[in-house]
Amino acid sequence: MTLREKAALAERAARAAGAMLERHGAFKVKRKSENDFVTEMDFKSEALIRDTLLSACPEDEFFGEETGGATTAPGRWIVDPIDGTTNFMRGHRLYAISIAYEQDGALAVGCVYCPGTDELFLAVRGEGATLNGRPIHVSGTAVPRDAIVHLGFGHRIPKNMERTLAVFPALLASVSDVRRTGTAAYDLCCVADGRSDSYVELGLNLYDYAAGYVVLTEAGGKFTGWDDDEDGLKTGNVVSSNGLLHEAIRERLR
Ligand code: IPD
Ligand code: CA
Repeated sequence: MTLREKAALAERAARAAGAMLERHGAFKVKRKSENDFVTEMDFKSEALIRDTLLSACPEDEFFGEETGGATTAPGRWIVDPIDGTTNFMRGHRLYAISIAYEQDGALAVGCVYCPGTDELFLAVRGEGATLNGRPIHVSGTAVPRDAIVHLGFGHRIPKNMERTLAVFPALLASVSDVRRTGTAAYDLCCVADGRSDSYVELGLNLYDYAAGYVVLTEAGGKFTGWDDDEDGLKTGNVVSSNGLLHEAIRERLR
């Protein structure tokens, strides 16, 4: 199967999961840790996505937020069945299904679907990124003063929360405005299609950003870690931007 065909499969799985999530009735919620929840629907969504992907590609491995799986493989699907569980369980409309395909250790396909807005972001390595089938590109915003910056709070890990709060005043004072959506996958896509200019967060997990990474970078964006020479793909400490603003934003995080 080509990467383009994998992308079409990811889209099919994401739309099917989205349709199921939008139809849900009452569901059980469990607390994973103090500020971290999982619902019955997260598990149902992950099972549906896994079945859809692996029945079409039995040779591939799977790694999902709720059930884990392969940490390496020649072909591996990396899935967050609901990115933004806190939003979803309270009825906020921003939550996303995030499906990435990794080939020989490199992220190659990204699909992020937001059922609440019916926006489907799709990207294949080397082939660009689209929103609902139309090509997208990062913004041309060149100065922080004009920038909308998305900030995740890192609120589940005390040292990340402290570091985020420490940089917040300088960031807020020097940009146009700050947003907190509650879904990292969607944050990356907002930078990818130019409605926002940067997104930063500490302590993400691979399944939160794998698909958004492909969408962002294929739309011309840049993705690094917070510290000099830090690889955000490895650490989950993510600075993303349209590229033009990257070092100026990073400067404000020091
Ligand atoms: C969370 C969301 C949120 C981000 C957290 C993530 P989840 O994912 O992406 O925006 O701030 O760091 O863990 O738990 O809803 O899948
Ligand atoms: Ca999740």
